[in-house]
Amino acid sequence: MFFWKSHSALIMVSIFGQKFTRYSGITQLMDDLNDGLRAPGAIMLGGGNPAKIPEMTGYYQHLCETLLANGRMTDALCNYDGSRGNSELCENLAAMLRDQWGWDIGADHIALTNGSQSAFFYLFNLLGGRYEDGRKRKILLPLAPEYIGYTDAGIDTDLFVAGKPKIELLPGGLFKYRIDFTTLPLDDDLGAICVSRPTNPTSNVLSADELTLLDNIAHERGIPLLIDSAYGVPFPGIVFTDAVPIWNDNIVLCMSLSKLGLPGARCGIVVARPEITAAISNMNAIISLTPGSIGPALLNEMIRRGDLQRLCSEVIQPFYHERTARSLEILRHHLPEELCRVHKPEGAFFLWLWFPELPVDDLELYRRLKQRGVLMVPGSYFFPGLQQPWEHTRQCLRMNVVPEPTEIERGLKILAEEVKRAHAKS
Ligand SMILES: Cc1ncc(COP(=O)(O)O)c(C=O)c1O
Repeated sequence: MFFWKSHSALIMVSIFGQKFTRYSGITQLMDDLNDGLRAPGAIMLGGGNPAKIPEMTGYYQHLCETLLANGRMTDALCNYDGSRGNSELCENLAAMLRDQWGWDIGADHIALTNGSQSAFFYLFNLLGGRYEDGRKRKILLPLAPEYIGYTDAGIDTDLFVAGKPKIELLPGGLFKYRIDFTTLPLDDDLGAICVSRPTNPTSNVLSADELTLLDNIAHERGIPLLIDSAYGVPFPGIVFTDAVPIWNDNIVLCMSLSKLGLPGARCGIVVARPEITAAISNMNAIISLTPGSIGPALLNEMIRRGDLQRLCSEVIQPFYHERTARSLEILRHHLPEELCRVHKPEGAFFLWLWFPELPVDDLELYRRLKQRGVLMVPGSYFFPGLQQPWEHTRQCLRMNVVPEPTEIERGLKILAEEVKRAHAKS
């Protein structure tokens, strides 16, 4: 039995309560993000907060003023939407995706959630966990490392099983993880396959061939393929490869307004066959009545003006592409290839750093950096579901490339000092 101790009594809590009140990796990440963004002098290279790109913040400011002036903001604030989310946005998005990508979809293929994090909670627990026949189904993450935010999202324990990747060494101190299709744990007890594309934390963008292979595997087993496109295509389109979006009715595509620069809007978008979007709509009703209306009001207006794709390709993608290249340059200036390899940057806004010979592990390095005011994320949090021990999981850190290059330089100088000091001491 699990108890909470309050000052006057012991409070019994359920198994759900016990699991969901733990201090998890994602809680630490969000605490660091909150503290780091506000603590004076802290160099915030952790978390996944998007950049405040001046063109985008100016654009959103103007958009909000317009929506206030024409009454649409007040409409959004003063009314509940239906549990599927704002119908006008579902219509508009379906039309946009039909026109741009030829997908055979209507508004009933779309459901909104309060951020895509909630969408994953719904989907993982809809498809994975205990079934009526007593079986327990898992979610396969075919390419570890994967997004830290999945780790604790199962109501049941051990919801994930992950594929150990192959590591391809590339010139210039780069490397790339590849799905090892020969050793994927394709047990009978899978409820879904899930990949983030670009992958958080590594920025790996799976190719169309890799996605098709995964889709075929999912199809053969009668389970869906979830594609987490929080950073990817069709929007916000933070990819540096020629990736195009892929959808069919066995794919559940999840998007978000967060990396467009609107994390406070808490708006996630699920594109899937109608049975799945109806399930999400029903879960929304029970858990939150309806998703928030501000994000949809903004996105509707962006789509109506034809600004969404233009801003993604002309402002957002070039901004992060440039920041990524600059950060890599700074990193190389301070840390040679022998001490730090970097995952080939293919999208999103992270560099995934691998210290193959480091005498201390990722948690210790994270702690030493934090003491010196530099926040990054320990790599070992990003391997949910990996079955076998693998020392590589303790040799990596994730940093984001969002701060100004001068800040990144300050942070990376400290990182280089700590890495060199750890080597010197061994
Ligand atoms: C890969 C990935 N998926 C999903 C999310 C959740 O984002 P949100 O709930 O803000 O849409 C994030 C947030 O950083 C992410 O990195």
